[in-house]
Amino acid sequence: MKNLLSLNDLTNDEIFKMLDDAIKFRNGELDFSLKGKVIANCFFESSTRTQYSFNTAELRLDAKVITFNPQSSSLNKGETFYDTIKTFESFGVDGIVIRDKKTRYYDELKNIKTVIINAGDGTGDHPSQNLLDLLTIYDEFKTFDGVKVLIAGDIKHSRVAHGNVKIMERLGMKCYISGPKEFMDNTAEYIDFDEGVKSCDVVMMLRIQRERDAHLETLTDSQYLEKYGLNLERVNKMKPNAIIMHPAPFNRNVELADEVIECSKSRIFKQIENGVFARMAILKRSFE
Ligand code: CP
Repeated sequence: MKNLLSLNDLTNDEIFKMLDDAIKFRNGELDFSLKGKVIANCFFESSTRTQYSFNTAELRLDAKVITFNPQSSSLNKGETFYDTIKTFESFGVDGIVIRDKKTRYYDELKNIKTVIINAGDGTGDHPSQNLLDLLTIYDEFKTFDGVKVLIAGDIKHSRVAHGNVKIMERLGMKCYISGPKEFMDNTAEYIDFDEGVKSCDVVMMLRIQRERDAHLETLTDSQYLEKYGLNLERVNKMKPNAIIMHPAPFNRNVELADEVIECSKSRIFKQIENGVFARMAILKRSFE
């Protein structure tokens, strides 16, 4: 029974094992079941992909699933985050998948004995997204060694960027960041956006995280697209085998032009498909 809080807590071998398991699940080559296990998905912050992809993975592995609804819960009566999770532990569930807006929310859950799987903590980490991103890149290039990744947009508020850079660089990739200066931090080396688009193997675009108070005073959405967004003109300057990624949800015609979202270089919906298999592998690691 193992928690998963950050991919950076794992060895490279453990990460490669999960990638291998995800590929085997995708190929129908792995027989593993969570029959008899009850998993609670406790999302205190909005989610479509992560929540329902975990839900799909749990159902595919024959687990029974509880979906916590914060809007109709006793949070409204002043119950705390900790007391809510402690309550699910007291129900005797086997695992709790948690997303919360607080970075490192799990630090206050140290005495919870139930398996915890982090589905995103504030601007900190998003291990299941990081794993599905690795899987999508591996599918494409069959290696991580020397793959150059541009992550562009609102880096500062992005748990995806923060988690990905740490794990990608550890696995031999080279990461660059780009975007408006208000959204830059020291996560990775900065590169001019157009230069990064031309020279990188992966162009990973990020949404402006307005729910974390991210905003630009000076640019309209169309000005943002013109200056920092991926349009067809820029896509045509990418390397022939380079791919476009985005964790989604995306904001059409802000960081991505409409016509780019399903273009031949886009792997955005492939990422979402891979998310189910990556999460099946994460669940297997936690419960095998
Ligand atoms: N990529 C991602 O975490 O999407 P959701 O917020 O919809 O889960």
